[in-house]
Amino acid sequence: MGATTCRLLVAEGARVVIADVLEAEGEALARELGEAARFIRLDVSNEEDWARVADFVIAEFGRVDALVNNAAVLVFGGITALKKQDFERAQSINLVGTFLGIRTIAPLMTAQGKGSIVNISSVDGLRGVNALAAYVSSKWGVRGLTKTAALELGHLGVRVNSVHPGGVNTVMSNPMGETLEEVNKRYAGVPLQRVGLPEEIARATLFLASDEASYCNGAELAVDGGMSTGAYYPGLPGAPA
Ligand SMILES: NC(=O)c1ccc[n+]([C@@H]2O[C@H](COP(=O)([O-])OP(=O)(O)OC[C@H]3O[C@@H](n4cnc5c(N)ncnc54)[C@H](O)[C@@H]3O)[C@@H](O)[C@H]2O)c1
Repeated sequence: MGATTCRLLVAEGARVVIADVLEAEGEALARELGEAARFIRLDVSNEEDWARVADFVIAEFGRVDALVNNAAVLVFGGITALKKQDFERAQSINLVGTFLGIRTIAPLMTAQGKGSIVNISSVDGLRGVNALAAYVSSKWGVRGLTKTAALELGHLGVRVNSVHPGGVNTVMSNPMGETLEEVNKRYAGVPLQRVGLPEEIARATLFLASDEASYCNGAELAVDGGMSTGAYYPGLPGAPA
């Protein structure tokens, strides 16, 4: 999703700094995108890495208009069997990583008097899910952090919003690389009856990052085919056949 977002942003005229722990993949993407892109290694849970990223962005491009906090890990496990370190790992990358991103980059934006921060939460930041306590907690945290950041930074010219993707066909939700047809069978409970595509989430991120969303601050945008709207009672009117 991060790679797709970078491609879309560059196609729309942005210059991007790609930051990830996956160095070979990040460098390859930067090469693909050419002059408009740079790559720097970043472990989002590491404060020193973030400080290097801030220096790098300013040295390369002189300013930063948007930050997309996208990195995350999915951690599985029922609550009573979940190890503390696994619970903490999800918080450390998904939530603390987002916090550090905001804390490091927002001052560059407030100095400019303008900026937009897009935090990628999840449909799982809007509801609970069995076996995903660690992930769900981190994504609700990202949603709450977004609201507070919107309050603290909005009056300084920086908008902060969250995107809540539903199931999206990426490595995270489809690690075995099943075909779209196979994956879609698992989405019968979603009103749109299919998995989402990375481009469909990237377009929401692009909107919130851009001036098109100039009055959006503290908003949560579900891009989930209706997954978070409710559940079907099978057999009753209005349920899919
Ligand atoms: N795929 C889905 O169904 C889905 C649904 C809802 C929300 N999301 C969210 O969308 C975002 C993107 O997910 P995705 O599906 O592309 O997942 P993905 O697993 O395909 O990609 C996640 C990326 O985060 C990077 N990453 C992991 N730990 C990192 C760290 N410590 N520092 C820096 N980078 C790190 C990975 O290297 C990878 O490039 C995530 O925030 C995820 O929680 C995904």
